Amino acid sequence: MRVKVFIKTYGCQMNERDTEAIAGMLAQQGYSIVDDENAADILIFNTCSVREQAERKAIGKIGIVKKLKKLKPHLIIGIMGCMAQNLGEKLLQDLPHADFVIGTGQLHKLPETLASILDERRQLALLTGGKEVLTSMGTHYRMSNTKAYQAYIAVTRGCNRFCSYCIVPYVRGREVSREIDDVVAEAKTLAADGVREIMLLGQNVAAFGLGGDTNPPPENISPFADLLFELNKIDGLYRIRFVSPYPSYFTDKLINAMGTLEKVCHNIHLPLQSGSDRILKKMNRQYTAEKYLEIVDKLRKAMPDITFSTDIIVGFPGETDEDFEATRMMMKKVGYDNAFIFKYSPRQGTPAAKIPDQVAQELKEKRNQILLKELQDCTAAHNKNYIGSIQEVLVEGPSRRNDKRWSGKTGTFKVVVFEPDKNTRKGELVKVEIIRATSATLFGKLI
Ligand code: 5AD
Ligand code: SF4
Repeated sequence: MRVKVFIKTYGCQMNERDTEAIAGMLAQQGYSIVDDENAADILIFNTCSVREQAERKAIGKIGIVKKLKKLKPHLIIGIMGCMAQNLGEKLLQDLPHADFVIGTGQLHKLPETLASILDERRQLALLTGGKEVLTSMGTHYRMSNTKAYQAYIAVTRGCNRFCSYCIVPYVRGREVSREIDDVVAEAKTLAADGVREIMLLGQNVAAFGLGGDTNPPPENISPFADLLFELNKIDGLYRIRFVSPYPSYFTDKLINAMGTLEKVCHNIHLPLQSGSDRILKKMNRQYTAEKYLEIVDKLRKAMPDITFSTDIIVGFPGETDEDFEATRMMMKKVGYDNAFIFKYSPRQGTPAAKIPDQVAQELKEKRNQILLKELQDCTAAHNKNYIGSIQEVLVEGPSRRNDKRWSGKTGTFKVVVFEPDKNTRKGELVKVEIIRATSATLFGKLI
């Protein structure tokens, strides 16, 4: 009987990618990856630390599975990912039913750790620290929720920017980049396996290949643009996306490359965080609202149909009504098609957590709601503009609500729902005429 492993992922796409790599390593060793936690012999929680809420959620869940261990004493419980790196030893003290804690820099040690736990029932393996792992992570295990023709490729890991609110540089460590050839080889293998869309991942992805402390980045070289250029040549690959670029890394060289490479999608996630220069400075974000708008304008000139999404933090320490208004105004000016709006969460060990002037929770909540409402109005208006247009859609398969209708996405990251015909295949590009739109979805017919 093969040992069954269930893996639950919290946090960002980088963590989803790590889960695929973890699953791939274990599958190669003969473990079977299962979707049902009750059927598993090993439970792994791949956790996130970016906000307190993310940690609380994982700790709550790991607390609940304690009773499973009472029923099944052989059950092995492991905590991996950013929270493992961040809280380390404390997790083993607070959750004594956990068998191992492995941080992001040690994740390649999972197979040997599991083997020794299974062998000796040795309790409490704690592996944290170490540099982010770039090699031996090539396998792309297809999890049950992985879309058949899409794949994540991690190109940089870690971060050197030290935004004052952010725990990532402390848990994932300094930024490291892979070699171009290595990434291109991985993309070619994926394309040969039927992958049509790749999403390049990095905490500061456009800093790829620059080799460390480079802000502002050089105007005349962009290894990230070189990478896009190489990936654009790969046969069978239709689309290239990436997250998350730090705004000031959009040099003219990179913007020009993006405008000319037809596979690079016209949708950019461009974290703003705040529209107030005063707050941006306190956040140690090294751009102003004006500079950010300049980048948006240049990107729009290069790709007129481009859409933007962003990350916003409300209630950063000392955020006044005036600062918040500046964020609202910026959101209106840019006209985002999506935004992740977060309530500031103090993270121990980061400079912002020490600022005495913390904003009340109710005020954070109120500001959050205002931005969400305005965002929805903005997206609804944008989506109406698509009515009557013909869009190229990468087909994903039956839609979640109604399996007679299929859905897919435009290059601008809009969800399009349409009725398939007998030739419609997942992972293919089709043309759809848009006839109706809501704030979340475009509806159309195949042409
Ligand atoms: N509190 C709230 N949001 C945060 N983020 C990062 N750190 C914090 C924090 N301490 C948000 C930022 C980042 C996204 C991944 O999470 O907006 O872009
Ligand atoms: Fe969370 Fe950041 Fe770690 Fe991703 S890198 S899992 S967002 S803390």
